[in-house]
Amino acid sequence: MSPLHVTRTLPEDATDAALRADVLNGLTVDPKTLPPKWFYDARGSELFEQITELPEYYPTRAEREILVARSGEIAAASGARTLVELGSGSSEKTRYLLDALTSLAAYVPVDVSESALTQAGQALIEERPGLEVHALIADFTAPLTLPETPGPRLVAFLGGTIGNLLPAERAKFLASVRALLAPGDGLLLGTDLVKDERVLVRAYDDAAGVTAAFNKNVLSVMNRELGSDFDPGAFDHVALWDSEQEWIEMRLRSRTAQTVKVPALDLAVDFAAGEELRTEVSAKFRRDGVAAELDAAGLELTHWWTDTENRFALSLSVA
Ligand code: AVJ
Repeated sequence: MSPLHVTRTLPEDATDAALRADVLNGLTVDPKTLPPKWFYDARGSELFEQITELPEYYPTRAEREILVARSGEIAAASGARTLVELGSGSSEKTRYLLDALTSLAAYVPVDVSESALTQAGQALIEERPGLEVHALIADFTAPLTLPETPGPRLVAFLGGTIGNLLPAERAKFLASVRALLAPGDGLLLGTDLVKDERVLVRAYDDAAGVTAAFNKNVLSVMNRELGSDFDPGAFDHVALWDSEQEWIEMRLRSRTAQTVKVPALDLAVDFAAGEELRTEVSAKFRRDGVAAELDAAGLELTHWWTDTENRFALSLSVA
């Protein structure tokens, strides 16, 4: 059994510095914004797991349906000997791919969470002796260096997380993925699709209030990490569909006029009554748009798989 290799490219204090920069920038501009990556502390990750089980939140189930039905085709089309997974987390859905990729020599999960990586990696090593697992603790939105493993490589970015990037960030991200690929390597990309507005809004504003708690969790993250005094009860969860941009936005709306202190940044932030802080964009896609964005990054769309209800797509593109 080969050992689990772990490489850290993310400095231990990088998260701290990035959070400070994002909060300082985001809370001193109008309109106020925060990047969605700060939802995911232990509590936020737990709430997201709960979201994936909600009746209203279909993307996880739809993507799993595609993986169950199509992993064999994906494996055959890619011929991958190395699977790189960006934002692998618990690697739960990747199981279907890993099982189908019978000639796989190496698996390279990339995530900011060391605990998720080592847990998933260790379990896999025990199950697939001979498979080299090389975990990378890294922020996949920053430039990556991959270990030397056999090609062809398949880079997988699942879950629809690409929708959390703004269009310019997506272009930059896809170009950096393209730069990791040699001719014949592929990208397997999960994208949630444009659909009925009511279905979309309900997926981000569930009846049980789990998404509201997830959204407000970013306030607790700032309180803990930066000593701020946000009162989660003083904000309302808002989910809305932007039909121009074709994305869902989550916001936190201040119920009253209030001032919040952020001691670590030596900052006092004023909120007007009803003022909104944007906490997430979750873009929804169409096939033509995905193909065009891939093309602009030097990738050619070769396969497009959807669930039976056409809610979510997995695309395969090649360098
Ligand atoms: C994990 C990024 C795919 O945008 O749907 C779930 C996060 N936000 N509910 C998404 C999320 C609100 C989710 N992704």
